[in-house]
Amino acid sequence: MNKNSEKISGWKKFMQSMTKAHDLGTEEDILLDHDYDGIKELDNVLPPWWLYGFYITIAISIFYYTQVFYNSEEYSQEKEYAAEVEQGKKDVEAYKAANPELFDDSNIVALTDDASLAKGKELFASKTCTACHLVDLGGSIGPNLTDNKWILGGGVKDIYNTISKGGRPGKGMIAWESTISREERIQLASYIVSMQGVAPATPKAEEGDIVWPE
Ligand code: HEC
Repeated sequence: MNKNSEKISGWKKFMQSMTKAHDLGTEEDILLDHDYDGIKELDNVLPPWWLYGFYITIAISIFYYTQVFYNSEEYSQEKEYAAEVEQGKKDVEAYKAANPELFDDSNIVALTDDASLAKGKELFASKTCTACHLVDLGGSIGPNLTDNKWILGGGVKDIYNTISKGGRPGKGMIAWESTISREERIQLASYIVSMQGVAPATPKAEEGDIVWPE
């Protein structure tokens, strides 16, 4: 036997030990005795190479759980969660600080861009404001919104506040904050501000005695 054939037989031995494959031609020895429509089954053992891989993953999982996951000083799911929540809160605060007008009603400023005013006008009709204040804001059940006499206060902040919280009880102007979004209420208030001084077709007589700016 030369060196080469020794190597081959060593390799073969190794393969045999890793696969425990049954020798060809002797299948009858491990043939199970059932037969499904001509399909028969051999009782092969699980190949050792596959089993070893399985054992290795079990060992790694125990090591991982006890050493890396459970004992780790630096990492734990709880810490990761807490850190992410912490970061999230900071991001929210930073966003609020950078965009105060979105969160704090005392910072509301009247929008003046065409798109916002057009949106306000559209909302004034679609949210049924026109039913009581008329399309040209001249007033009918509700007061004229184009003159500078206010029952509840002029200026974007007071108007926004009236739209949000409603007028005096029983007068018919309900609170809209649960049905109209904050952004849309600002657009509505801005639209009303932009309509100051226009002349409606049939203006309702002035109501209220607040002039803005006071
Ligand atoms: C059912 C009728 C009705 C509807 C609909 C209505 N309003 Fe009014 N609105 C009134 C009445 C009535 C008042 C006066 C409230 C008071 O005297 O306290 C009023 C007051 C106001 C005021 C304050 C006026 C002032 O002089 O201080 C604003 C601004 C206003 N409405 C905007 C709106 C907007 C915007 C909408 C649509 C989202 C709307 N209203 C829908 C009846 C209505």
